[in-house]
Amino acid sequence: MTFIAFARRAWDWVRYGFKSLLKGLRPKGLRNRFVLIILLPIVFLQVILFSFFYNRHWDAVSRRLAQDIAGEIAAVIHIIDNVSMPPDELNAVLEQIGQEMQLDIAFVPARSDIGRRKQKRHYSSAHLYAEIRQMDYPTAMREVAGQQQLVTLQLDKGTLKVLVPRKRFFSSTVYAFLLWMVGSSFFLFGIAYLFMKNQVRSVARLARAMGRFGMGQTNFPFKPEGATEVRQAGMSFVQMRDRILRYLQERTAMLAGVSHDIRTPLARMKLELEMMPPGASVSDLQADVAEMEKMLAGYLEFARNEGRENMESVVLNTLLQDIIHKHRKMKKRVDLHEEQIVAVMARPNDLLRAITNILSNAGRYARRARVTLGIRNHMARIVVDDDGPGIPEHKRAEVFKAFYRLEESRNTATGGVGLGLTIARDIILSHGGTISLSDSPLGGLRVVMALPLKTRET
Ligand SMILES: Nc1ncnc2c1ncn2[C@@H]1O[C@H](COP(=O)(O)OP(=O)(O)OP(=O)(O)O)[C@@H](O)[C@H]1O
Ligand SMILES: [Mg+2]
Repeated sequence: MTFIAFARRAWDWVRYGFKSLLKGLRPKGLRNRFVLIILLPIVFLQVILFSFFYNRHWDAVSRRLAQDIAGEIAAVIHIIDNVSMPPDELNAVLEQIGQEMQLDIAFVPARSDIGRRKQKRHYSSAHLYAEIRQMDYPTAMREVAGQQQLVTLQLDKGTLKVLVPRKRFFSSTVYAFLLWMVGSSFFLFGIAYLFMKNQVRSVARLARAMGRFGMGQTNFPFKPEGATEVRQAGMSFVQMRDRILRYLQERTAMLAGVSHDIRTPLARMKLELEMMPPGASVSDLQADVAEMEKMLAGYLEFARNEGRENMESVVLNTLLQDIIHKHRKMKKRVDLHEEQIVAVMARPNDLLRAITNILSNAGRYARRARVTLGIRNHMARIVVDDDGPGIPEHKRAEVFKAFYRLEESRNTATGGVGLGLTIARDIILSHGGTISLSDSPLGGLRVVMALPLKTRET
């Protein structure tokens, strides 16, 4: 590998790591994203303001304060140099001046050792130190109790000691500013958060309502609310829901009506055939009529399908045990593997019909079946395996269509009407689940049904 290739690979890794880090840190929920959107600019603003504006302001104020003190000390030195007084009197005068200046000033008419020792200094006294150092005398400065600064200057006549209280060289307005800024930011954030919470709530409510409708619940209250766009989405959802419900009702009514209407002439035909003299064509016709009756029964069942039932908590273990018990009575070999107790929200009779349809297919097209119940990816999962001929991959989408059968003879002896899988898929989808076909390790067909688990919200 050349160096360039290596570098490129390394850069890719760095970029990938950074991207996934950002992705991991980015909050998932709308509310947390909003919090971030509000919070980030505020924090940036604070940092920028503080580092540019406050810092400079603070710097200027501190320097000015330090200059003032240095000027006052220079004036005191001037007095000491030019006035000849006995030391006691001089100190009395200096004390008085010091009171005016809020400084403690003392003069000792003797040289003292001003060491060049490095003193630990508070950052707030940096400007004062710089100003003191600029004087034309040997100087020293050190911190004494309460963050006061003791300035010592070696004059020609003796030693001058000045105790500078903190408030003379340190401006605390910056702290006040900072407090105000942070405080008001918190206040503003609080208000924004309250408003935002309401906005998010309407979106969350819409999402929940859509989720419930998707899972097949129809009778729950929902009122569009929130900002215009959210309300619009809510209203569109209500319209869509009504339209789908109306469409389903119409389909049910039409199928039931047609099936019912055809039944009467069919019954008449059956009667007339009975009265005809027996023959090959008559018995053919009779078989046809019988098949038509069976198809109509299927139609009616399909039409009946649209959930009149209410959703309730269903323990799949019990449901499956019941179904399999019935199948065993019909001398079918069915095993049940329960990995754990699984509960879903469902219309029990619909769900029973869906699973029964799948199992009766296995019973019809195979000799042995195995049912496995468990939880995968936060969904209840029912797997039905059989050892029959299976369904070739390119037909797996087709068999879900109404009246579709692999065997085209439409011979009722070898199969049903072709509605079993259609109905099963309808029911599973209306519960917010999925159904798929694949190859079974038993050699035949594997049907996998996934259903949303029962949660606290549903
Ligand atoms: N377990 C299976 N093994 C092999 N083929 C199957 C299996 N299940 C379904 N099929 C094929 O898929 C077709 C459609 O199945 P579907 O259950 O919808 O209808 P059906 O069983 O023919 O009639 P019915 O409406 O009585 O169930 C079947 O005709 C059959 O050819
Ligand atoms: Mg079937």
